[in-house]
Parts: sequence; structure tokens; C-alpha cells
Amino acid sequence: MKKISLTGIKPTGDLHIGNYFGAIKPALELAKEYDARYFIADYHALNSMKNPAELGSTIRHVAAGWLASGLDPEKVIFYRQSSIPEVFELTTMLMAFTAKGLMNRAHAYKAAVQINTEKDGDMDAGINMGLFTYPVLMAADIILFDSDVVPVGMDQVQHIEIAQDIAQSVNANYGKQVLKVPQAIVQEEVAVVPGLDGRKMSKSYNNVIPLFAPEKTLRKTIMRIVTNSQSVQEPKNPEVCQIFQLYKLFTDTDEQASLASRYRSGGMGWGEAKEELFRVVNTRLSPVRERYNAIMADIPSLEKILEQGAQKARPIAAATVKRFRKAAGID
Ligand code: ADP
Ligand code: TRP
Repeated sequence: MKKISLTGIKPTGDLHIGNYFGAIKPALELAKEYDARYFIADYHALNSMKNPAELGSTIRHVAAGWLASGLDPEKVIFYRQSSIPEVFELTTMLMAFTAKGLMNRAHAYKAAVQINTEKDGDMDAGINMGLFTYPVLMAADIILFDSDVVPVGMDQVQHIEIAQDIAQSVNANYGKQVLKVPQAIVQEEVAVVPGLDGRKMSKSYNNVIPLFAPEKTLRKTIMRIVTNSQSVQEPKNPEVCQIFQLYKLFTDTDEQASLASRYRSGGMGWGEAKEELFRVVNTRLSPVRERYNAIMADIPSLEKILEQGAQKARPIAAATVKRFRKAAGID
């Protein structure tokens, strides 16, 4: 039997190139050898997104993004978290096995408390219970589907460790393997994709290259990449330049060697390097963008795909909940 790979993306903003190379592409690679279950973590997004129109459209955007990037819903079980009520049933059961101290130590919650403490204000200001218990909901997402591996970025590894801890507490209590203990997979070769300013590309830094921007916007965005004040004539070092780091994601080694040599020999200005980058990004992304636009032009079909995914997911989820209830004496 094939092993199971599961991951979710929280629909909290427009997808960018960092999401594509850091999350979507590696997950789709894994789907070739694993039974994959990929979903839109819309209840996780609700913690921070309270505007219904915005949340609704971001959910559809992220769903269309997965499909446009190549997810085949015939092969991957693809669904919205909110379509699987068993997630919430399991969350409640897992709560009973989750030490509160484990939540106190979770990075996202700790960071929010730290900001409040630095401001000398109420330690709990702006922190809802959804943020505090976020790792339990995420553990339920994972454990519900008997996941073996969870492809994630470095920032999510602690959450997988918490899911392991919770599953192990359940198994230890009942003296048998009621729940499968998942493992994180962090794609080492996918380095952090740099943003326009050289920091990690992230919607929180406002430095992103959107995945589906129209050609004109894409060009304008790439032209905004921050560079140093070296003149056209000066030789440049490609290894310390985010234009080159981004170029590498879209090209083969021959193209990379050729641009690197133009950097080193001098005579190429930053504007020209950006034009080269725009050319390769646009060539590679335009078919993805076209697929995305076609999917977004037919929302009923998109909803249907997600609904069919949920239909396939629910029996698997129900079996896990049933097994747990039986072990717990609630059947
Ligand atoms: P953002 O930082 O823009 O808020 P998210 O935290 O929503 O992005 O990330 C969703 C997924 O994309 C995660 O798996 C994350 O590891 C991955 N990801 C986000 N930004 C990058 C990046 N710059 N490089 C590599 N992977 C990234
Ligand atoms: N917390 C993840 C993120 O912010 C999204 C997520 C929710 C997830 N549930 C998950 C990822 C289950 C992997 C498995 O990126």
C-alpha cells in the first residue's frame, strides 16, 4: 500500500512565487509516489480573516491555484477543511489529550504574547482561542487522514511535533496504536525564496511576486526588485543577488551559467538583469496563469471539484473518528 502525504494551505492572501516553490510544487512532486490528500485550511484562516467576501474569494483563489499548478483531482483527494465535520469532532477529542503547556509553547501564540508584553499591554490582547488552539486543529487535519508524511516549510515543523505528541498520548493511554503518528517532510533543497527586498518572500513583508499577476503587473513588480548602486560597467556577484536567486528557480543550469557570466564580466546593468528575469518568469508562468483564469471563470465547476473531493475524504475521516470513539468508550 502507498504511504499517505497530506498538507494544507491557509487561504489568507494571494499566492506568491514563494508559496509555489516552497509548498505547492514539492507537494505535487510527492503526490507522484504517495496517496495525496491536499486541502484548503479555511477554518485556520478564519482566526485572522473576518471579512466574509475576502475570505470567500481567497479560498477560491487558493483552490484554483493548486489546480492551475497541476493538481489532478482524480489522483489527489482535494477538499476544503470546512467540508469535513469529522475534523472538528476529532479536534474536540484531541483537546482532551493536549497539555495546555504545549499550546503555551507554540511559536505563533508565543510571538503574539511577546509583542503584547513588549508593548506593556494586556498579554492576551487580540489573541483569540482559535490562535491559541491552532495546533490542535492542525493535528486533527493530519491525524484524521492517517497521514504518514506532511510536507511543510520549516516554520510548521513545531506543529507537526505537537501532532506527534498528541497522537502518542492517545496511543499510550489506550495501550495500542489508535492514531497514526505523522512525520514532517521539509524539502531541504527548496531554499527560502527571496522577495523583492532580499528578505524571505512573504505577504507580511509586502515583497512578493504574485503567482497569477497579469503580464504588465508582473513586469512592474519585477522592476521593483531592490538592487545596490553598482554601475552598468561594474562586474557583479550573482550569488548575492536576489534577481539571480529568482532566475535560478525558473531556468536550467546552462541558462544560469550564461547569466552568471554576464554578471561577472560587467557591462550588464540591473535593468537588463531584471528584463532577463521577467522574460523567463513570464514564459514559465503564462500557461499557469491561463489555467488559473479559466478555472476562476467557472466557479461552479471549481466548487464541484472540491465537493467531490470532500465526498472521497469523509469516509476516511469517519473511520478514524469511529476507531477513536471505540477506543475511548464512546461508541
Ligand atoms: P506567507 O509567508 O506569505 O504568509 P504562508 O506562511 O501562508 O506564506 O506560507 C504558505 C506555504 O508557503 C508554507 O508551506 C510556507 O513554508 C511556504 N512559503 C511561504 N513563503 C515562502 C518562501 N519565501 N520560500 C519558500 N517557501 C515559502
Ligand atoms: N498551518 C499551516 C500553515 O500555516 C496550514 C495547515 C493547516 C496545514 N493544517 C495543516 C499544513 C495540516 C499541513 C498539515 O502553513
